[in-house]
Parts: sequence; C-alpha cells; structure tokens
Amino acid sequence: MKFFIDTADVAEIRDLAATGLVDGITTNPSLVAKTGRHFLEVVKEICEIVPGPVSAEVTATDHATMLAEGRKLAALASNVCVKVPLTPDGLKTCKVLSDEGTQVNVTLCFSAGQAILAAKAGASFISPFVGRLDDIGQDGMELIAEIVEIYAAYPQIETEVLVASVRGPAHVIEAAKLGADVATLPPAVLRGLYKHPLTDKGLEAFLADWAKTGQTIL
Ligand code: E4P
Repeated sequence: MKFFIDTADVAEIRDLAATGLVDGITTNPSLVAKTGRHFLEVVKEICEIVPGPVSAEVTATDHATMLAEGRKLAALASNVCVKVPLTPDGLKTCKVLSDEGTQVNVTLCFSAGQAILAAKAGASFISPFVGRLDDIGQDGMELIAEIVEIYAAYPQIETEVLVASVRGPAHVIEAAKLGADVATLPPAVLRGLYKHPLTDKGLEAFLADWAKTGQTIL
C-alpha cells in the first residue's frame, strides 16, 4: 500500500520524506489555509521535495473555471495531481484533464456510486473520506470494501482507491487488509504507526544488556 501524507506543511513533509516511506502528498484548501502561505508557491515547493503525486485542489465550482485552475496547477510541476470535488462539474473537469494526461484525484467521495462515476471519468485516484463517515455514525471502512470490490470486478479500471480522512493507525491497518491502493495519513498517524510499548521496552532491555558487555560495534 502506498502512503501519502495529508498536509501542506513543508517542514513536516521534509521531515517525513526523509523516512523513505512517503509516496505522495495530498493537500486541500483547509490544509493550505493553515499554513498562511501562498498556495501556488507551496505546491511547487512540495513537488520539489516529493517526486510522487502531489494533490492540489481547485477552488472554483464551475467547469470552465475549474478546468482553467486545473491546467494552471498542472503546469506547476510534472507530479501535480489536480484534485476536484465529486460534483458534476468536477467530474466533467476530471474527464478533460485526464484525457490531457494530467493525474486527477476526485475528492469528497462518500458513496460507491460516486466512486463508479469517478472511475468512468478517468480519475487516477478516488478519495473516500472514512473518518467523516465514521463521524456521522456510518462505517467508513465499509465504503472502502465496497469500492475495492467493485473496481476489482472491472480490470480495465485504473483508478486507485485512496483512503482519506484517516484518523488513526486502525484505519490504515483496515485499509491495508482490504487492499486499498493508497492511504493518505496526517503526519501524526504515520508517526503513530511506528509506536508499540513492547518495542520501546524490548529495546531498552537489549541496550541495557549490551552496555554490560562493554563492547562497541564501530
Ligand atoms: C484528503 O485528501 C483530505 O485532504 C483529507 O484526508 C481530509 O481529512 P479530514 O476529514 O481529516 O479533514
């Protein structure tokens, strides 16, 4: 499973990219607003740090303006993946940009029917938001299972399932069990995946015993 990081914070991205585990980045207008920085500058900078797809979201809601925004974003770097919302205008824009060879991430997906439409529109990624479904008492992971099953029934579908709105390591593990292609993780979730108290305890004991030997490896 690929790991994308869900942030527009360049310092976090640099730090996490150094782990060698980061395959791409997703941003959204709320994450960009948090940085207080200029959107286009941030996207360019992220694209230089991470060679994989960097999702940058359009903010218009009509097809013509979305398309113009998407083309402008795509021209920033070869790894920009234009993000469009799952609306009729968004999917129309997705189709045109995909036909032009631009990667498109269709965001704000909350149903399997929407995911079918995105695949038909040629999306590179579909982003079902699991955490926001959990928040309203639905099971976000059930949606991932449904989409993975539907896409698998049509080998010609190349759209990758990108699990979004991830709230903790359990979401990542469930997504991996279901065979989702990608999970986009807030930085704290990636850091949380490393953690286990028995790892810390075990390492502490190994190091204490090693110190008793008085040896060094180097
Ligand atoms: C995905 O691309 C979105 O940016 C993100 O996962 C939204 O997550 P949230 O529901 O925690 O805001």
